[in-house]
Formats: sequence, structure tokens, C-alpha cells
Amino acid sequence: MNAQTDVRDLGALTGPVMIFGGPYSNLQATRALLDAANRLGLPANQLVCTGDAVAYCADTEATVRLLRDAGMHWIQGNCEQSLGNRIDDCGCGFEEGSSCATLSDSWYSYANRTISEDSRAWLRTLPAQLRFTLNGRRIQVVHGAADQINRFVFESTPQDEKQRQLDLVQADVVVGGHCGLPFGQAWHSGAWLNAGVIGMPANDGTKDGWYMLLIPEAERLKVSWHRLNYAATEAADAMRFAGLPTGYSDALLSGLWPSIDILPTAERRRRGQPLQLAALLI
Ligand SMILES: [Fe+2]
Repeated sequence: MNAQTDVRDLGALTGPVMIFGGPYSNLQATRALLDAANRLGLPANQLVCTGDAVAYCADTEATVRLLRDAGMHWIQGNCEQSLGNRIDDCGCGFEEGSSCATLSDSWYSYANRTISEDSRAWLRTLPAQLRFTLNGRRIQVVHGAADQINRFVFESTPQDEKQRQLDLVQADVVVGGHCGLPFGQAWHSGAWLNAGVIGMPANDGTKDGWYMLLIPEAERLKVSWHRLNYAATEAADAMRFAGLPTGYSDALLSGLWPSIDILPTAERRRRGQPLQLAALLI
């Protein structure tokens, strides 16, 4: 891990902890997520965002404000890092010339135009990673991977690579974001969890976003994934009204991404198949 990486240590948390990623400027999904946390009686100290609060959707500033006012734990994604530091592109790690890269020219320039200077400065204050313990487990929250903010780690990424990342930060569990798909894997010496994202569907043919709960259970942790149903039509209308390209606004309604450039073969094969994620005990 880069010695300059800013890791905020939260100490020991009490559960349940709700984790989510990728609000992506989707104000309607962000409101629904906070409503879900309220229904569960979870205070801000038990909410964690894995970054990319600003991206594809229409409500850049309002989404940042809502998350900031909620007072939750929140790490920088590549989008926070790029906008906060006035970098010219989103830093997602898309290949040059790919359709993801072409699409990002439009949504990133829109985000860059519609964020306030106050919010830009706020994004710079967010840590790159979080660390906490829960029921004795050492948990590291990263955006892409422990050693690179925009590294894509998928379910199909080899376990050896995931273990290497755990070893880098001396964690029992890494919680990552960035890739947009929820999943969890546990093996004898560790676990890798991804909460999924709330601001775009999971490319599974449904409109829902996803979040994850960590719940202490006896000596272990129960990890469960949950669909977030929200006002997707309203979010898509806001994107069209803002003049954003239709690829991602259509995706909010179809549940299918406009491009699968970033996906490995295994994840490509699952496109359009409604996700079902069983809980894990780790
Ligand atoms: Fe990202």
C-alpha cells in the first residue's frame, strides 16, 4: 500500500453496520437508502459509504449535501478524488477509446460543472480508506483495492489476489466498492465483500440498487445483501431533463448497463439475470 494512503481508524464499532457504494449523483436512490437506515434505526456512526458519490446521474450537488449532512463515514472514490482535485477525467480506470471512457466524458464534465466549490473542498477532506473492528474482525474499507483506488476487483478476481490485498493492510476482511456489483467471498484466512451500489442497477435486468449489512452474531459476523427499490423513473427523468446522454438514464429503467467493457467474462455472462445473494457467516 502506498505509504501516503490516508486511512481513518474508527476503532471498535457496534453493529449492525450498513455499507453501500456508488450513490452516483442519484438523489432519489440516496434518499431511499437513508430512509432504509432510518427504518432500521441505524445512526450515522453505523453507516459507511465506499465512495463515488458523484457520477452518472443528475443531482451532483444535492447528493453530496445529503450525504454530508447525514454525517456518515465516507471514503473517497476515484470520482471524489478527481472532482476534489480538479482532475480532468473521472479516474475510473476505463481503457482509452472504450465506450465507458466515451460516456464518461459527458457525465464527468456535467458533474464538474455542477458541483459547488464548497463541496469540492469537502470531498478533499474524506479519507482514502477506513479501518474498524466489529465483533473482533479487522475490517478495511477501500474503494477499488487496498493498493489502488481504481483497481477493479470482481467476484471472479482470483482469491490469491484478494488475499494479497488483505495482507497489505493486515485485515481479516476487505470491503471494496468501485466495480458496481455486489458479492461476497469467504475463505479460511479472510473475506472480500462488496456492498454493490445504490445509484445504478447491478446489470441484472432489475432497477434496484444494493446495500449490505454486517451484523454481529455470537462469535461471528452475518453479512447480508439487500435490494434498494427507489424512484428510478424520477431519477431517469431528471437525467434526461439535465441533457445527460441516454445510455445511463435508460439503464436506470432497464437494469442493464450501456457498456460492459470493464466486466470479466464470468460477470458478462450474468448480464440480465436477476441477482440472488445468500447471506454469509464469516
Ligand atoms: Fe470508482
